[in-house]
Amino acid sequence: MWVGVGKGKGGAGCTVGALELAYAATRRTRAGRPRRVGYIDLDPQGNATDVLEPASRAVGIKDVLAPTDPVPLAQAFVATSWPNVSVAPADRFLANREMDMTAEGLTVLRRARLSGEMDNQFDDIVIDLPRHLGRLSTAGLLGIEHLFITARPTLWGAQGAEEMRYTAQRISYRGNPELMTSGFIVSGYEPGEDSDRIVGEMRKRFGRLLLSPPVPRREKVPEAIESYHTPCREYGDSALVAVANAYQSFYDRTLALHSGEER
Ligand SMILES: Nc1ncnc2c1ncn2[C@@H]1O[C@H](COP(=O)(O)OP(=O)(O)O)[C@@H](O)[C@H]1O
Ligand SMILES: [Mg+2]
Repeated sequence: MWVGVGKGKGGAGCTVGALELAYAATRRTRAGRPRRVGYIDLDPQGNATDVLEPASRAVGIKDVLAPTDPVPLAQAFVATSWPNVSVAPADRFLANREMDMTAEGLTVLRRARLSGEMDNQFDDIVIDLPRHLGRLSTAGLLGIEHLFITARPTLWGAQGAEEMRYTAQRISYRGNPELMTSGFIVSGYEPGEDSDRIVGEMRKRFGRLLLSPPVPRREKVPEAIESYHTPCREYGDSALVAVANAYQSFYDRTLALHSGEER
């Protein structure tokens, strides 16, 4: 299945969420072997690319989206230090595609999904969507089937999530009828009067799409992911298990939904 993780506001836990969902996918099996994930890093900051430690950065997603001589998507993926995860790497030159991506580029991910050309290589594609609504995020939103929207439990976080939902609806009407918002992920949650009120309001607004549980704030998440490039579950700190479990449940729920649709 093709999954995207987006946000309306920076620092929402989007990249951590996309990485944890990719890892969660590899803990599930298909035909008796771990699911294989193709991770598309659409954020020119390339944080996820750094974490995954790609075997090579010679080719990246910027080359797939290039206006001239585009590289086929299948050729952009390289192995990473995370078992069963390959990445189509990002680098800062990916930002150029905001300026020069053509209509072909905008629909390249969508066409790859519909043609099934990646199906032999991967069971899941996970896309880390950049924040700004530009050509990069549009190409991503046109490609995916399931969108997770991440938000911090703050007023601006909630507003950003709402905006992102609206954006996804527009893209869905205009060019990707398969796109659905599969859930809002509250990331970096700590109990408190203000955060609980905001989560309550988000629940009223988003209903069952507000995924439970909120992902707790744990000091060691940046240490595990950013410094040690390690998924929360593998880091060996019991405080991070709740974070890993939350993302696993979001992945499992979406896969169950997706498999139900396919049948
Ligand atoms: N559950 C969490 N607890 C604590 N810190 C977190 C958690 N999730 C993400 N972070 C940290 O918050 C910051 C923003 O997360 P990131 O995934 O980079 O957001 P985005 O991609 O939306 O900008 C990063 O430093 C990340 O390590
Ligand atoms: Mg990010």
